Amino acid sequence: MTSTDVSSDSYVSHGADGSISAPTPPTLPSGTSLALLLLGQGTDENSERGVDCPGDLPLASDPDLVARAVAAKATLGSKVFVLGHHYQRDEVIQFADVTGDSFKLARDAAARPDADYIVFCGVHFMAESADILTSAKQQVILPDLAAGCSMADMAKDHQVEDAWDALTDAGIADVTIPVTYMNSSAAIKGFTGEHGGVICTSSNAERALRWAFEQGQKVLFLPDQHLGRNTAVLQLGLSLDDCVVYNPFRPNGGLTVQQLRDAKMILWRGHCSVHGRFTAAQVDAVRERVPGVQVLVHPECTHEVVTKADLAGSTEYIIRTIEAAPAGSAWAIGTELNLVRRLADQHPDKTITFLESTVCYCATMNRIDLPHLVQALESLVAGQVINRITVDDTVAKYARLALDRMLALPEVV
Ligand code: 13P
Ligand code: SF4
Repeated sequence: MTSTDVSSDSYVSHGADGSISAPTPPTLPSGTSLALLLLGQGTDENSERGVDCPGDLPLASDPDLVARAVAAKATLGSKVFVLGHHYQRDEVIQFADVTGDSFKLARDAAARPDADYIVFCGVHFMAESADILTSAKQQVILPDLAAGCSMADMAKDHQVEDAWDALTDAGIADVTIPVTYMNSSAAIKGFTGEHGGVICTSSNAERALRWAFEQGQKVLFLPDQHLGRNTAVLQLGLSLDDCVVYNPFRPNGGLTVQQLRDAKMILWRGHCSVHGRFTAAQVDAVRERVPGVQVLVHPECTHEVVTKADLAGSTEYIIRTIEAAPAGSAWAIGTELNLVRRLADQHPDKTITFLESTVCYCATMNRIDLPHLVQALESLVAGQVINRITVDDTVAKYARLALDRMLALPEVV
């Protein structure tokens, strides 16, 4: 058994609501030791994460880390451009030249042709997208290669090819447009571009779906079933019955040919391990706990949660909503904790609570910490590029097509 078997998605059990149940330990052939994939070392080719992080990290307790990051960044000057996703830790975000949601960061990466190095403080699929959108001479660096995304790992390219074969056999591939969430591997983005589809993020999913329904009659939405369902039902006015869930671990996705033919939205059975943990009961509980509270959630949450909430939108939308809210207003926010904490710190005149205190940080977003950032920057100062993310040219060609289609969509604010 390899480490791949241990980390495979098939080994994790997902409830229909996106919940995760405890994994069953793998059965190892006798005489085989359990293959552990130590974070930051080794490789896992079947995972969206690529991991190989050589060298010793400075200790997190090093009191000089901030000064070292400042000095390295100053030495590199305009050669380096640091992008920071809103879910990053404060200790990292303070060094970002620009912060944003995945859509804004993709656009910002594409708009910096003079920076030799793009240091992406986010997760692997974002760095891949930046590599696709930047020129060949620019190098994209992910400070910790173990910063993947469990949702992106839920759609493997061979599974998506199998799904397309199932749609072809059902006679509907010709009228189906793939719409793929940014949170996916470059290979899935490439598949999307090659099959006439478009990438979307949570800030433009509505526009991407409208575009797709102008090109075809059905959508294969990958890999986040919740964003797909929420956008189709709440923004496009489709019914829940128009949506079916395609399970990549079942023959034909666990659907009959007739179900595939009848559906307008074929939703991939993927979800975010963080947002999938918020529940409708938690929305009820916070309304009891905080009088007059408004509930604001990310559309990666389940349909029940989004329907119960007052507002839903991307991380940029959440930030804009809180900025525009009147002093004294009360908010319960259902998204990653780093962002909610930062908003609470920045808006002391408003009551801002986390929708549910038992939901934890995004583990992979949090892999990017100050020691990793310092290591990446100081390596560049020393003339060494570590943790570079590159996308194969053929994959990149089609992925770029799908990303360019997204960037050409009119903005929805
Ligand atoms: P946005 O940045 O598009 O809001 O997405 C949130 C997210 O989960 C990123 O991984
Ligand atoms: Fe992936 Fe969810 Fe983490 Fe975003 S918050 S990187 S979707 S696991």
